[in-house]
Amino acid sequence: TSIPAADDRVPDMGKRQLMNLLLLGALSLPTAGMLGDPTYLVVEKDKTLATFGINAVCTHLGCVVPWNQAEKKFICPCHGSQYNDQGRVVRGPAPLSLALAHCDIDDGKVIFVPWVETDFRTGDDLWWA
Ligand code: FES
Repeated sequence: TSIPAADDRVPDMGKRQLMNLLLLGALSLPTAGMLGDPTYLVVEKDKTLATFGINAVCTHLGCVVPWNQAEKKFICPCHGSQYNDQGRVVRGPAPLSLALAHCDIDDGKVIFVPWVETDFRTGDDLWWA
């Protein structure tokens, strides 16, 4: 018998792209409209934490949007809006992409900081700031 390598004991992790998304709590800094919204952490292919988090609140009418692993999209249960793995809207009725937050690790804790720069997914100005 052989002892499996570390990676073999973590099924799927290596094959995933952005997958393990965790629903986390509140933003750590007050920012209009986003304080306390549930925000997804994004784990990159290399298993590091992405430097952005994705606000889970649908831009249509505000339902919390779950990640659909099979479709590799966020799919809103309320009216079917879809967002890609970066939260960019790919199907309506949602008019806008999911909001972003900066994600950082500070003293072992994950913190979210308001995102006030251009939306890197679209190059557009922010709708949420
Ligand atoms: Fe998400 Fe309507 S609230 S599609």
